[in-house]
Amino acid sequence: MNGRQIGDVILDLQNISLRFGGVKALTNISFDVREHEIRAIIGPNGAGKSSMLNVINGVYHPQEGRIVFHGEERRRMEPHMAAMQGIARTFQNIALFKGMSVLDNIMTGRITKMKSNFLEQAIHIGRAQREELEHRRKVEEVIDFLEIQHIRKTPVGRLPYGLQKRVELARALAAEPSMLLLDEPMAGMNVEEKQDMCRFILDVNDQMGTTIVLIEHDMGVVMDISDRVVVLDYGKKIGDGTPDDVRNNEEVISAYLGVAH
Ligand SMILES: Nc1ncnc2c1ncn2[C@@H]1O[C@H](COP(=O)(O)OP(=O)(O)OP(=O)(O)O)[C@@H](O)[C@H]1O
Ligand SMILES: [Mg+2]
Repeated sequence: MNGRQIGDVILDLQNISLRFGGVKALTNISFDVREHEIRAIIGPNGAGKSSMLNVINGVYHPQEGRIVFHGEERRRMEPHMAAMQGIARTFQNIALFKGMSVLDNIMTGRITKMKSNFLEQAIHIGRAQREELEHRRKVEEVIDFLEIQHIRKTPVGRLPYGLQKRVELARALAAEPSMLLLDEPMAGMNVEEKQDMCRFILDVNDQMGTTIVLIEHDMGVVMDISDRVVVLDYGKKIGDGTPDDVRNNEEVISAYLGVAH
């Protein structure tokens, strides 16, 4: 845990249930996220973690429950609306344009911020030109921050996996989110890559003030960087609290060790 100032609740999920036909992906889940915190979601495979992120950013619509974001109950909402409200995310399976350069991929993160229309952009007049400069400036800032200057022109498909994950983080940051949802940002990385990613996540949180909701399987990482942890198992919440609370919770221990309870 680090010493930042954690603020008020900005996202409150109340009694969320989500089904796909007969599959209960989430059952009656409630938890909240406070401003500036790093909130981890953990649990075994198929526990409902990714589904939860998809509920938060409007990809899935739960059949039951309430979602209150910045004090307002949210009506049915689509992913682009979540993006406009400052929620950005990365995916469990990297979702980048492999043939495009790092720079262009990160630029796509600016789409929700673009105001001029396509015609203005195509002929580069007035507003479009000023806007483009502003977008480029922001993108270069993110590139510096994540230390990927040396690969800015490289097609993403040619990069090693760990760097692709970093580019995906860069694209999310280019949207200047107030809340960042990260679905297993360190999966498949070696120890050194994981350490780098941890440092970047902490820096984003600390220097940009971004609230972070993070799914991660590496318990060492979770215990190290998160303020609070929610634990899911078979779509149900079985633990919620500080890393220490969760580590000592019997139900959580048995879920992880596969012991019958
Ligand atoms: N679009 C979908 N259609 C049908 N079933 C789905 C869909 N998305 C998720 N599920 C089901 O919901 C359950 C939870 O899946 P989810 O991907 O949220 O788990 P997870 O905790 O992220 O697992 P993992 O650690 O493997 O990524 C699983 O049984 C899964 O098969
Ligand atoms: Mg998942």
